[in-house]
Amino acid sequence: MTNAAPQTIYLKDYRPFGYHIDAVHLTFKLAPTATRVIARMQVRPNADYPGAFFLHGQELTLIWAKIDGVPVTPDVTAEGLTCDAPDAPFVWEAEVEISPDTNTALEGLYTSNGMYCTQCEAEGFRKITYYPDRPDVMSVFTVRIEGDFPVLLSNGNPVGQDEGWAEWHDPWPKPAYLFALVAGDLVNHPGTFTTKSGKDVELNIWVRPGPDEAKCAFGMEALKRSMTWDENVYGREYDLDIFNIVAVDDFNMGAMENKGLNVFNSSCVLASPETSTDANFERIDAIIAHEYFHNWTGNRITCRDWFQLCLKEGLTVFRDQQYTGDQGSHAVKRIEDASLMRSAQFQEDAGPLAHPVRPASFVEINNFYTITVYEKGAELIGMLKRLVGDAAYAQALDLYFERHDGDAATIEDWLAVFEDVTGRDLGQFKRWYEQAGTPRVAVSDDFTNGTYSLTLRQHTRPTPGQPDKAPLVIPFAVGLIAPSGAEVVPTQLLELTEEEQTFTFGGLSEKPVPSLLRDFSAPVILERDTTNAERAFLMANDTDPYNRWQAGDALASAVLMDMITEDAAPDAAYLDGLAAILRDDSLDPAFRAVMLDLPSEDELARDIAETGGVPDPMAIYHGLEALRVARAQHLQDISPRIYADMQVAGPYSPDAKSAGKRRLANSALSMITRLDGGVAAARQFEAADNMTNKISALAQLMNIGKGEAQSAAFRADWKADRLVTDKWFGLTVARAAPEDAVGTAARLTDEPDFDMGNPNRFRSVFGALANHHAGFHDASGAGYRLMGDWLGKLDAKNPQAAARMSTAFETWRRYDPDRQAIVREVLEALAGQDGLSRDTSEMVGRMLA
Ligand code: ARG
Ligand code: ZN
Repeated sequence: MTNAAPQTIYLKDYRPFGYHIDAVHLTFKLAPTATRVIARMQVRPNADYPGAFFLHGQELTLIWAKIDGVPVTPDVTAEGLTCDAPDAPFVWEAEVEISPDTNTALEGLYTSNGMYCTQCEAEGFRKITYYPDRPDVMSVFTVRIEGDFPVLLSNGNPVGQDEGWAEWHDPWPKPAYLFALVAGDLVNHPGTFTTKSGKDVELNIWVRPGPDEAKCAFGMEALKRSMTWDENVYGREYDLDIFNIVAVDDFNMGAMENKGLNVFNSSCVLASPETSTDANFERIDAIIAHEYFHNWTGNRITCRDWFQLCLKEGLTVFRDQQYTGDQGSHAVKRIEDASLMRSAQFQEDAGPLAHPVRPASFVEINNFYTITVYEKGAELIGMLKRLVGDAAYAQALDLYFERHDGDAATIEDWLAVFEDVTGRDLGQFKRWYEQAGTPRVAVSDDFTNGTYSLTLRQHTRPTPGQPDKAPLVIPFAVGLIAPSGAEVVPTQLLELTEEEQTFTFGGLSEKPVPSLLRDFSAPVILERDTTNAERAFLMANDTDPYNRWQAGDALASAVLMDMITEDAAPDAAYLDGLAAILRDDSLDPAFRAVMLDLPSEDELARDIAETGGVPDPMAIYHGLEALRVARAQHLQDISPRIYADMQVAGPYSPDAKSAGKRRLANSALSMITRLDGGVAAARQFEAADNMTNKISALAQLMNIGKGEAQSAAFRADWKADRLVTDKWFGLTVARAAPEDAVGTAARLTDEPDFDMGNPNRFRSVFGALANHHAGFHDASGAGYRLMGDWLGKLDAKNPQAAARMSTAFETWRRYDPDRQAIVREVLEALAGQDGLSRDTSEMVGRMLA
């Protein structure tokens, strides 16, 4: 059986809803498989846009419906209901029955380890009751929850409670996607915050009683830091009496910004030194900040429709990036954000799933919670800020909050505040929102009579549905460095607006070396003929930390490329450059650690495909291994000294400074381990009092084919901790030898605690497999087949999670015909699977197109 072609939704078809919902009152009578939801809505026809009274609704059993107290019989379909309605204000009432316990999609109201919780963004509210489930319909919610639980939570402020019930009222009109309900046997980690205008806010992090209670302290501090930061940097204050965070084990995404009741994947809020790495702490801090910042950029000002998703996500990611930079190193944070863009986002932009930051159409909106909408969306904010300057950015943001508070806004509204503040025409800038694909900027230069000129040519390749691309406005930051290493022209922002433009710099005594695209000033690919000597020069001398890193990364890629395709020996210029950086104690340890990061196998495969080759996953794997060994040898005099110097004394603290030292120490350990057979790593594993050092030591041992005993001990020690067990599952796959990776993943699915219903656990195995480049792309096709089988099984339970994981196949056209044939077979089998979800079928369809 084939699946019916699902409907495509277009931005151009946007039309406001035909009614206003002035207030909504919901009553929940909780029961595992027969929860009753009674909705009462004050409805008023929208005189400007008359239309049918259509309410979304999916998987609901309608018990009764009334208009103004009189029973009605609406037309009910699988997507919702339509009812004849008066041409004047009226009261709509309906009761439905739903089954949270059997809701494995984790969308709408579901149960997770005995607690009830909700996830409504984007379109999950329609699985709770009949409602205009669209972000431009905003209403004031009052919620009554009846259920035999000690804790009953919803949005807004509590207005009453007693044995078995609680009532909540949210004074801020909101779209349905921000609705949330939680009920369970929970305990709170409390806190308080006083806003800058003197309002006291009660804060809580809610978890199940038990070990999770000891993992809330960091999250609470992160929340307070975020609240202070948003007041200080954006002038935004919190606006309710209470702010609740709940940790949920089964959750499709990271977290959700429901008004006053943020729901978090437990992996994104719970932290302790023994169970969480430094990277976990930083990520948790950033996600708590992100969700908190949504209170203004997302909730107070929301999106008119889901095409505008980047309006809230791009801006909120940009804000959380600023926040994280403020907690530690802006340089390192920028390098990491840029690196993620250049690997994962450029890949999305270059493949079958490419889409604009503001898509013009979609089949299933959940498939557009992507790195393009989020991270490229944040880059667009960063470019705007660069183009208009910090002061105008601050003014534009103030105007945005003032003008659009309470609105469901659009990208046009967003750009208009910048135009109004600066007088600048952002028509060309808007193309960044509408055009998919990564622009390429080809650079050539010339030096004549003391004048250096740079010629920049931009070009964007076609992407699905967009054959022709127009030139963009590209903020292009440049500095010039003399051959002596001295900076002769400090950073200047060039604006490339034409297809080709030349910029000149006069009064120079000798030809400088250009430092291009400083701070990753625009998400573009640089095309330039350069030499390893110049890369090494910039790696040593650039004053821009991002470009220094970028030069090292480019040099490492070039070196690796020669090693992989020509069996060359590693270039000494790269190894000597690294040695100089490692020895330079004036450099931040975290910066030195990122300088040691190597390009991933996946990026190398991309580079090979880009230059017309066909990547051989095993050759890439061996090339990287060879460089790791060569590096360890070349740096063997430095690594032990660094390892010793970077030990952090005293009790563990996740602060950026200590984390940076541990990161560098563990990079040194990885080199030491290549030479000492694992002695130092085994010692660190035994001695470690924190997860960062523990799991890093274990990983280093596994890298050299050891660590079996340590892995078993780790597994046994943490059996009861789901989050640490996820780490063990993930590491076991990630560190398997290429020829064992698929077998290892398959074997892990037989473990008693492998649970495909838990997205974290599923991802720990299959996400790790997808990232195990040489293992996943094993020539036998076993990796493709295992992934395909499990995606098919998962899709029947949890379409969102399956669709997301299907991106493992995004790059399949890079590989040889034999591999492609197997992937095609796997994807076609999935596409033809009986009852395949709209989510997965859209993804597979795009990848096969
Ligand atoms: N708005 C949430 C966040 O960024 C993401 C929730 C998305 N959920 C989903 N099912 N698509 O922060
Ligand atoms: Zn978000």
